[in-house]
Amino acid sequence: MDIMNGSNGIDGSRHTTDFIDNKDSLPEKNKAKWHSREASPTDVKTELTPNADMDRVDYPILERPARFSTSSIDSGRDSLTSDDLDSESGSLSLGGWEHHGSVDDDFVEETGISSPPLNLENAVLGKELGSGRFGKVYLVEQNIDNKRTCYFALKTAQGGSREEKEANLAKLKHEVEVLAALGVHANIVECRGFAKVDQEEGVLFGLIQGPDLSGLNNRLCEQFEQGDITLHELSDTLAFLEQQKLNAMLHLQKANRIHGDLKPSNFMWDSESNSLKLIDFGQSASCEGEGRVVCGHEDYTPPEAIDSLQGSAHAVKANIAIDNYALGQMQFMMHDYLLGGKGHAFSNGAKTEGLAPSQRTEKAFLFRQAMKAFTTPKEDGSYQKVIEDVSFDELMMQISEKDQPATFDPLYDKATEMYEKMQVLRPMADYACRFMHPIAEHRATAQEMMNHPWIINRSTDIDRIENIISAAAA
Ligand SMILES: Nc1ncnc2c1ncn2[C@@H]1O[C@H](COP(=O)(O)OP(=O)(O)OP(=O)(O)O)[C@@H](O)[C@H]1O
Ligand SMILES: [Mg+2]
Repeated sequence: MDIMNGSNGIDGSRHTTDFIDNKDSLPEKNKAKWHSREASPTDVKTELTPNADMDRVDYPILERPARFSTSSIDSGRDSLTSDDLDSESGSLSLGGWEHHGSVDDDFVEETGISSPPLNLENAVLGKELGSGRFGKVYLVEQNIDNKRTCYFALKTAQGGSREEKEANLAKLKHEVEVLAALGVHANIVECRGFAKVDQEEGVLFGLIQGPDLSGLNNRLCEQFEQGDITLHELSDTLAFLEQQKLNAMLHLQKANRIHGDLKPSNFMWDSESNSLKLIDFGQSASCEGEGRVVCGHEDYTPPEAIDSLQGSAHAVKANIAIDNYALGQMQFMMHDYLLGGKGHAFSNGAKTEGLAPSQRTEKAFLFRQAMKAFTTPKEDGSYQKVIEDVSFDELMMQISEKDQPATFDPLYDKATEMYEKMQVLRPMADYACRFMHPIAEHRATAQEMMNHPWIINRSTDIDRIENIISAAAA
């Protein structure tokens, strides 16, 4: 039986925060191991009250680093000050990109987007930074005064046909408009408007060195597997990154908008400001009025929005619960990987990637089937969680069914190791479950999850966490 998706799940009701310490159910041999781990002085976590933790502001640095100083190209401000910070949300109230601007008059005319001019003299197109469905992203280097260089990323629209290119251009325009409305935020990519560099037209963004979260997560897991960091440290680091995702989500939700394409490759680590930044707002939609969304990636799409994967004719009503599911899914995959799985999505049995819209309908049906056990309430009205808690004995049984070891000892040792890992990862698992509730109305909100034990009880040793991330990002 699959450990994550087995049939003997427990109560999935939403508001319990009982991280039951199951060590009492451990056999004697395991108890000894558990207690010795518990007593380890190097591995003790600081317990915090929610308020104490929330008072401690460890949000990313908001000053623009000197390397990105825009003093010589901005008609606006040199740097951001604490006066600009909305202390409640961590967002900046500068009127966003209006302080920056575009250089290409044709573009302004074509797109209807106007903004103060940005002087991109001496700017040259550098290497390709990445590519996506809409086009390529290039490095832009601008020599300012022989001493300083400004770096940007230029996202271009491409396409085989003129129509395709125009459609992608329209998506870029949409992205600029969304980011202009959102303004500046420490956890959201900085948008500078339309620009043309070396004949390439596109949207200019502040450069984020990366890696993206997918690469960063891989490296963090490697660090753990090589013994460079403990599982506690890994969990704390993931919780730290998650808090930054939540900051970005709260900012979006304040504007009553969803991203629509949340996935690890759309979060990038910026080592200049030690912050995680959300990019790629092409699918973003307003939750107001008749606002509708076409979700970007099937693995991160909740059951109620799965139809949208068939294309814009099937767009669904935008709702913040759609993004929230994606946040849960990202942790679900990490949890799966860390417990020996392949890091697959919950919906993996219903992969739709690369399929034509008509074929996607079939897959969407499969996904719904897979979700059925989780969308049907139990007699007490609760729902089965997407990650179930298992006792040590159940775990032994699962492993023995799957691996069928010849002797007892290897089975026992494997179960012990896994069980201990599960205890450490339990807060993260609960976090994933609350965000992945298959019924949208029961799904937790980002605001609620800011106070989730996994987030508020993480280590307060920010230096250590940032060192871990720096090593992983290098
Ligand atoms: N500001 C930036 N700084 C550095 N690299 C960037 C930046 N923005 C985008 N990139 C790189 O370009 C890639 C594609 O960007 P983006 O996700 O915005 O495009 P997309 O076409 O919408 O992608 P997809 O649809 O595949 O998610 C990113 O994964 C990243 O590697
Ligand atoms: Mg992307």
